[in-house]
Amino acid sequence: MAYSDKVMDHYNNPRNVGSLDQKDEQVGTGVVGAPECGDVMKLQIKVDEKTGIIEDARFKTFGCGSAIASSSLATEMLKGKTIDEASEIKNTALVSELSLPPVKIHCSVLAEDAIKAAIDDFRKKQAAKHAKSETSA
Ligand code: FES
Ligand code: FES
Repeated sequence: MAYSDKVMDHYNNPRNVGSLDQKDEQVGTGVVGAPECGDVMKLQIKVDEKTGIIEDARFKTFGCGSAIASSSLATEMLKGKTIDEASEIKNTALVSELSLPPVKIHCSVLAEDAIKAAIDDFRKKQAAKHAKSETSA
């Protein structure tokens, strides 16, 4: 199976590889695994709490080239979006941008799931923080 040029580009020069501090209140972390192949993806966002805009995104993916490319592209798409806009990102956008073949669709689903998990984590942290500040006020 031939990878598209875009997949090869992101695979050879992955954008935003790395980790953000998981304990940071501004950071949301999503870790998801693909039942199809056992690949694992970690995706993190750092959100400006005032504006809700994602100012940074990082990933670490233990998986195939398409999963690495999908998560690399996802971090590029996330930066500068609000968390509401980010929650609208669909795997189909990654599929078309990377020209993924049918057997690699699940790699892009993994990235969509990781985005959603990171947003959920951030929202839970914010809710917990606000609950705490209300009880202590
Ligand atoms: Fe081989 Fe995912 S199936 S790396
Ligand atoms: Fe499973 Fe790509 S082959 S994530």
